[in-house]
Amino acid sequence: MNAITTRHLRSQKRKHEKIVMLTAYDFTFARIVDESGVDIILVGDSLGNVVQGRNTTIPVTLDEMIYHTTLVARGTQRAMVVGDMPFMTYQISPEQALENCGRLLKESGAAAVKLEGGLKMAETIDRLTSAGIPVMGHAGLTPQSVHQLGGFRVQGKKDKDAERLMSDAKALEQAGAFSIVLECVPSDLAARVSEHIKIPTIGIGAGAGCDGQVLVLHDLLGLTEGPAPKFVKRFASLGSQAREAVKQFITEVRSGDYPDEEHAY
Ligand code: KIV
Repeated sequence: MNAITTRHLRSQKRKHEKIVMLTAYDFTFARIVDESGVDIILVGDSLGNVVQGRNTTIPVTLDEMIYHTTLVARGTQRAMVVGDMPFMTYQISPEQALENCGRLLKESGAAAVKLEGGLKMAETIDRLTSAGIPVMGHAGLTPQSVHQLGGFRVQGKKDKDAERLMSDAKALEQAGAFSIVLECVPSDLAARVSEHIKIPTIGIGAGAGCDGQVLVLHDLLGLTEGPAPKFVKRFASLGSQAREAVKQFITEVRSGDYPDEEHAY
């Protein structure tokens, strides 16, 4: 069992120690992220975007999530590994969710699952946690509902939407979720939600008042290029470095400079 557990995360909240979560989708990056000291590695269904090149996460399948989560779990020793449940693998009934979340946990080696939705998912989360499956909730902007939400936009700006987010968060806590991702919600609202519940909130585009922060790894590393949401901070420019390295390889192969004596038998 890895060092970071649901109990550890709760105590981080009590001690006001910020929780750090990042996505990863394969062994190599999982090892880098884990050895760097993050608390949680999320195998997000954002792999639909950054690994598969899709516009939404909707087509991602359970088998794909199990495959990528297995690779990440293999590269992770310390952090908690959380596997995302793809669209329509948990919404139909609590029984469907039990079967599919159980499969993800058993087959991949993840320690927990994440699923999107608030109050409406409470009964399902109660069933999952009663069966011993730790669940991370996800409220605010829920990308699997992009078509219903009318786009990737900030949630909870109107009073009634803010009230709904607060009751969603309380319902998720009540149902037994060990943590909640708050995505694209105004900072003051996310801070209020974080104060009102005992389980940690992990923000993405939700300001500094959350108990922790998450980013998509490829955004942080600058592997995704072009326009990004306002909350994305690129801490490196690996995309352009990779391009430069590949161009250099092409140049040296074409010129005959590679392989030289040093790189040949
Ligand atoms: O799929 C994902 O990577 C996520 C995070 C952005 C929270 O859900």
